[in-house]
Amino acid sequence: MGRTRLLALVARPVEAAPSRVVGSTRGGWPRGALIVCLAAIALGACKETTIEDRPCPPEGTTLTYESFGKGFMDAHCQSCHGAPTKDRKGAPSGYDFATVEDVRRWRSRIFSRAAADNTTMPPGPDDPPEAERERLAEWLACGAP
Ligand code: HEC
Repeated sequence: MGRTRLLALVARPVEAAPSRVVGSTRGGWPRGALIVCLAAIALGACKETTIEDRPCPPEGTTLTYESFGKGFMDAHCQSCHGAPTKDRKGAPSGYDFATVEDVRRWRSRIFSRAAADNTTMPPGPDDPPEAERERLAEWLACGAP
């Protein structure tokens, strides 16, 4: 329903165009702006997968902080987000993932930046493999046991 209405909005100026004075650009700008806005809305809507989108599987998880979480955070996050880290490379203070309590506290933010198909963290070129991001998603969704 909402989608059809949006499409109708985009289409309207095209239909109206022939009635305008030839050479006039008056109809052009609003349509362009509308398309840019729609693109922005679409991008915003599919920007991130949240922890609510990916619930813990009914059978739970076998992953634990010791078997998975600590290793993942140490390998991919702690160089900038470690509490004793001197050069945080701009990582905001307070966002430390040095203990399981820290990770649980920031669970949903960690998910939104690094788990499943979220790839905005780590920012560098050394991304964890996709399968690791999937495991991170499951572990976080199950409460980071
Ligand atoms: C190379 C350094 C670096 C590494 C490695 C890194 N980060 Fe970050 N992190 C940053 C910087 C810089 C910011 C602030 C800018 C921003 O939010 O994009 C940040 C901000 C954050 C924030 C706070 C903002 C928010 O969205 O809530 C979270 C959470 C986060 N990072 C998670 C992670 C996770 C999880 C990892 C590991 C998978 C990680 N980061 C690895 C540099 C890093």
